[in-house]
Amino acid sequence: MTASDRTLADRASASAAVSRRTALTLGGATASVVALAACAPGASTPPAAEAPPAEPTAVGSLADLPVGGTASAELGSTPILLSRPAEGEVKAFSAICTHQQCVVSADFGCPCHGSTFDASTGEPTEGPAMQPLPEYQVTLDGDTILVSA
Ligand code: FES
Repeated sequence: MTASDRTLADRASASAAVSRRTALTLGGATASVVALAACAPGASTPPAAEAPPAEPTAVGSLADLPVGGTASAELGSTPILLSRPAEGEVKAFSAICTHQQCVVSADFGCPCHGSTFDASTGEPTEGPAMQPLPEYQVTLDGDTILVSA
């Protein structure tokens, strides 16, 4: 290790120590910010966990979901999101955000920390969420949208 390396290492160590102190000092403030975010207007939390029905369940009508549109719905007591990327194609996803389980809005944006999801795939398009929204099976019975977990 050269003198120059030690200096950099010492600086990094000192910086890490300051960062740790800062993090500890701000720990309470961070917890408060997180608590506020959970209580912020528009933020929502999921209902008590209950498995969505496995059998096809009517959740809406094609008439209420135009091509290119998105909507919120419920599968049993589970909040879900619907999208209609093309005329004969409807997608359904869990509306429970994969970041910290807030309920994602009908526009596929999470009100808690700003994650956004692709309405056709459920993949995150903006963090902090890293995982896609789980997808459910969709079948159509005439104009009726049926979803099963
Ligand atoms: S819960 Fe954090 S972005 Fe959705």
